[in-house]
Amino acid sequence: MRNSKIAGVGHYVPEKVVTNFDLEKIMETSDEWIRERTGIQERRYFQEGVDTTSNMGAKASMKALEMAGLKPEDVDMIVFATLSPDYVFPGSGVLMQREMGLKEIPALDVRNQCSGFVYALSVADQFIKTGMYNNILVVGSEIHSNGLDFSTRGRNVSVIFGDGAGAVVLTPSEKEGQGILSTHLHADGEFAEELAVIDPGSTKKERLTHEMIDEGTIYPYMNGNQVFKHAVTRFPEVIEEALNKNGYKASDVDMLIPHQANLRITSYIQQKMGLPAEKVMSNIHKYGNTTAASVPIALSEAVQEGRIKEGDLVCMAAFGSGFTWASALIRW
Ligand code: UT7
Repeated sequence: MRNSKIAGVGHYVPEKVVTNFDLEKIMETSDEWIRERTGIQERRYFQEGVDTTSNMGAKASMKALEMAGLKPEDVDMIVFATLSPDYVFPGSGVLMQREMGLKEIPALDVRNQCSGFVYALSVADQFIKTGMYNNILVVGSEIHSNGLDFSTRGRNVSVIFGDGAGAVVLTPSEKEGQGILSTHLHADGEFAEELAVIDPGSTKKERLTHEMIDEGTIYPYMNGNQVFKHAVTRFPEVIEEALNKNGYKASDVDMLIPHQANLRITSYIQQKMGLPAEKVMSNIHKYGNTTAASVPIALSEAVQEGRIKEGDLVCMAAFGSGFTWASALIRW
């Protein structure tokens, strides 16, 4: 069976920079608390009328296509990961398809939150392995800033999320042993409500009520300590799983791209795996947590900065709402 490889990668973030000091002005928080607990210094917020989840995905995709030397008409499929779609339905995949003029190719939306991009990558990899498609755009794009609770009640979540998009184009690999070596996907719905937006869902007679707004169930809720505890267990576990499957050890990894959830989580993984800091990508200080967009944005910046070269062993890993967690091991 043929392997798939990442032939191009790109990212787009909205222009508007929001610092911790800006947040201090609108809610009860401090730059010191945010930096110490999360490592975040600033994040990007979208501009209404300019940025949408789908058009940010399209901008990131165009950059990925350019790097791959491909044109939009070469694309066979879109796999779009987001928890903040433009509309309740249809998904952002078809909107990006329209935006890019990619007529009649399939567009699939993936709903796996922070693990969404790695899940989407795995889905696309299977389509290429079986020979069904050749060039697939895999996208992670999010707009969080218009859905956050900026009161004291929601501050543990609101200060960490940011907006942005990243994309890769996956193509068949020509070289033996090059490309995506394996992907590993997991979920445990036992913890579904520990990090979730409950309303407006389909469980209640009325989808949206004033009580939901007043009680804040329309905003993301996170049991931070519980999520943190699971994250520091699942990240190393799913990275080990990928390494073991391919007969590698942690010291063989040239670049680890973890989902940017919290600098403390990234540092913990780095220490646990015994990796030097330069082999672990971190850009959370600039963008906060962009959920499904965080892995492709971090990958795109690592490539842009020349930190990944041909032949490198690259590992991506993510953990988040669901709970879901996933990894991908790639020979670049
Ligand atoms: O991307 C998906 C995966 N997500 C994660 O992996 C996130 C995992 N969790 C975390 O990163 C951390 O739990 C947070 C950064 C979200 C929170 O940090 P924490 O150290 O777990 O804080 P906490 O929620 O236990 O709150 C500690 C204190 C509380 O005050 P008291 O009760 O000790 O007086 C909070 O009210 O900090 C307070 N607090 C804040 N203070 C200032 C919570 N949020 C803020 C805030 N500014 N933004």
